[in-house]
Amino acid sequence: MSEVNRQWLLRSRPVGMVKESDFERHEAPIPTPADGQILVRTTHLAFEPAMRGWMEDRASYIPPIGIGEVMRGMTVGEVVESRLDGYAPGDLVTGMTGWQEYALGDAGLGKVPPGVDAPLAMSVLSITGLTAYFGMLDLGQPKAGETVVVSGAAGATGSVAGQIAKIKGCRVIGIAGGADKCAWLTKDAHFDAAIDYKAEDVGARLSELCPDGIDVFFDNVGGDILNEVLARIAQKARVVLCGAISGYNLEERPPGPSNYFNLVVQRGRMEGFIVLDYLPRFAEGSAQLLEWVREGSVAWKVDVQKGFENAPKTFLRLFSGANAGKQLLEM
Ligand SMILES: NC(=O)c1ccc[n+]([C@@H]2O[C@H](COP(=O)([O-])OP(=O)(O)OC[C@H]3O[C@@H](n4cnc5c(N)ncnc54)[C@H](OP(=O)(O)O)[C@@H]3O)[C@@H](O)[C@H]2O)c1
Repeated sequence: MSEVNRQWLLRSRPVGMVKESDFERHEAPIPTPADGQILVRTTHLAFEPAMRGWMEDRASYIPPIGIGEVMRGMTVGEVVESRLDGYAPGDLVTGMTGWQEYALGDAGLGKVPPGVDAPLAMSVLSITGLTAYFGMLDLGQPKAGETVVVSGAAGATGSVAGQIAKIKGCRVIGIAGGADKCAWLTKDAHFDAAIDYKAEDVGARLSELCPDGIDVFFDNVGGDILNEVLARIAQKARVVLCGAISGYNLEERPPGPSNYFNLVVQRGRMEGFIVLDYLPRFAEGSAQLLEWVREGSVAWKVDVQKGFENAPKTFLRLFSGANAGKQLLEM
């Protein structure tokens, strides 16, 4: 066990693209658990694009991270000391303990189920898989035979969302950046077709692949891609607003989609959601996702970088598309 608790703090609020210099390293004493607490040694950090928004000082669905506070983020860790019934040294737990080597926790930290390793616990069975599950099923409501399009399709959330629509009997088209990601979608992740938005004309390819229109769009990207899809929705289409990563690092909010009026013409619906609203149903979602993974219906990928000192660098990978699957870092 090391002598200090290495941490990454938020140094400054990002302007435009988030930078490594927005974070600073710090060392603190290792905390001691009180009655009812556990001491956890972090083994992996998990990264989500939403963390970029938490660094800004503006009203959102959770409060901003304060300057000088430990960077907020999901982790997996091992219990090293327990003063809490039901938790023993060696147990693996997940929770929002942030970018630090050691953290105190309580019963709010979930135990990783037996037989599940840290990468699976932090990807399909965690926030991104659950976002795909509730967003696609509750808002997208895919029906057999329908045409479903997913943007950010090769990422942690998009890849699971598309495969859930496949399980429901839909034709699924993914939009992702680069030939390798597109090949993974059609060869391994059960998608029917993929569009490389970095090399192809997205609108033209959507017209070709979706001649009868798009029934469900699960959007992780926003911007031009959302606008191209809106121009091609079918009657009674459901547009699920999961994220809009194309705008997260812009200094100015981008203009709204000019094709939104097609929702009126096609009697469509466009709706956003935050996965935390589904907290009471997380156990249901994780159990179903685990079953699909075990039977081979949901393929998944993690991108595991190494070394706690590389946490800011690893976070930035989400915004260049360097991550191939759920972005994790092994301490
Ligand atoms: N609503 C909720 O409760 C909720 C919860 C979790 C996540 N989300 C959202 O879900 C989306 C995906 O998150 P994730 O954690 O699964 O990350 P991810 O998809 O695994 O990684 C992010 C991906 O976004 C793509 N990307 C980055 N910049 C882009 C740009 N300017 N234009 C187009 N694509 C870009 C990159 O893929 P390419 O290589 O394909 O460009 C990158 O790999 C995000 O928008 C996130 O905010 C929402």
